[in-house]
Amino acid sequence: MPRTHILALDQGTTSSRAVVFDHEGHPVAVGQREFPQQYPRPGWVEHDPLAIWASQWSTAVEALGKADLVAEDVAAIGITNQRETTLVWERDSGRPVYPAIVWQDRRTADDCARLKADSVESLFTAKTGLRLDPYFSGTKLRWILDNVEGARAKAEAGKLMFGTVDSWLLWRLTGRTVHATDATNASRTLLYNIHRGDWDDELLGILGIPRSMLPEVKDSSGVFGESMEGIPIGGIAGDQHAALFGQGCFSPGMAKNTYGTGCFMLMHTGDEAVTSRNNLLTTVAWQIGGKREYALEGSVFIGGALIQWLRDELQLVRSAEECNQLAASVPDSGGMYLVPAFAGLGAPYWDPYARGAAFGMSRGTNRAHFCRAALEAIAYQSAELAECMVRDSGIDLKDLRVDGGAVRSDLLMQFQADLLGVDVVRPKDIESTAAGAAFLAGLAIGFWKDRDEIQRCREVERVFSPQRPGSEMVPLLAGWRKAVERSGAWES
Ligand code: G3P
Repeated sequence: MPRTHILALDQGTTSSRAVVFDHEGHPVAVGQREFPQQYPRPGWVEHDPLAIWASQWSTAVEALGKADLVAEDVAAIGITNQRETTLVWERDSGRPVYPAIVWQDRRTADDCARLKADSVESLFTAKTGLRLDPYFSGTKLRWILDNVEGARAKAEAGKLMFGTVDSWLLWRLTGRTVHATDATNASRTLLYNIHRGDWDDELLGILGIPRSMLPEVKDSSGVFGESMEGIPIGGIAGDQHAALFGQGCFSPGMAKNTYGTGCFMLMHTGDEAVTSRNNLLTTVAWQIGGKREYALEGSVFIGGALIQWLRDELQLVRSAEECNQLAASVPDSGGMYLVPAFAGLGAPYWDPYARGAAFGMSRGTNRAHFCRAALEAIAYQSAELAECMVRDSGIDLKDLRVDGGAVRSDLLMQFQADLLGVDVVRPKDIESTAAGAAFLAGLAIGFWKDRDEIQRCREVERVFSPQRPGSEMVPLLAGWRKAVERSGAWES
């Protein structure tokens, strides 16, 4: 019997998802499970590695069940994941030595500041394309080695393994036999030289990380091993890289923005690793056939999570849908700006000490204005990324391909198009991340022939064209910048 489907495992920040794709690239079934977020101290965010694994596994079973498929129907598994989140476990027992430290966690801000004072940031940036920010795995891993009793000695004795979430899932899926990652996930650790394509001994030395605990770095599309059920694991990529692939952004200048927990805009730059002069990151888009392609990335830490915050913490709305309806009930935010710097600010500000703030409120400000300001904040942050990207690459954006849960909001999409002055293109399937993982896995085993065949799987649902003149948007953006400035350096 031919194997007819690809299973994508999409391990995100707040939920694990599994999506089954058919040969046309259509998602035929989805399993999804949220898992607990732990905030042991202000600025700290942790996950239980076993809860990650258990939720991911159960969604795979759920999705296959819904699609009425069994393991023998699955041609390959693709893995995509929240990036940078840092796990360490014992080689022999498989026991995690500490909870996963999540990418949003700010506990190593002072460590990063000390490293900056030692003037090593330019060295890290030149080799990794990243900045010295607590966002990335390197200083989180060092924190575990320095703060968990006995961890450093065990690591030095070769008894511990480090991995981002993809490595952890791969190791579990393969019955604890394969310890590997792909070049995209490696490129988010501060330990990987994106030009040479290898872990960097000089950087490992500075951070005091033993090389023996690192996974082997492989192609994003290629067979990593077999699951316990005999299914080849054919692809791995960090979620934003997978979304770029899933959106078919295969040539230089093509860009996508994913509106998930955060907002992540990536522009493909071909085989050139473009160094940013505007505070963006240089990252590996993917590695296929031993060849790395690169992207510029703007990472905004709080995007869709702002709407969740209005719902769960402020209890201003019961759902994202209600937030959208309320926002649409007023003509504008009434001069209000909401800066969601809950986890500091990412690109282009990189201020780990910034904190959330609301500005411009008057006696007439109501919850509809709050909702509107929240949706607009997501668009403002993304517009700033696009501006930096155009300046860095010298390529004008032709359009912006969008995906992620928050793109369901027409209001957000229209405001985004107005701010950018280019078309915003929403695909029929907004699961681009999972699709990208499926495509990478399918490509590895010949389920899909090449990128042209994959490109043909994409269907556009709606294009949002700019409707307001640029002259109307400029003062709004200026107000946003003023608000951001005032929320900066709050904690220091
Ligand atoms: O860099 C963090 C990013 O990979 C998280 O993505 O989709 O879980 O918000 P998401």
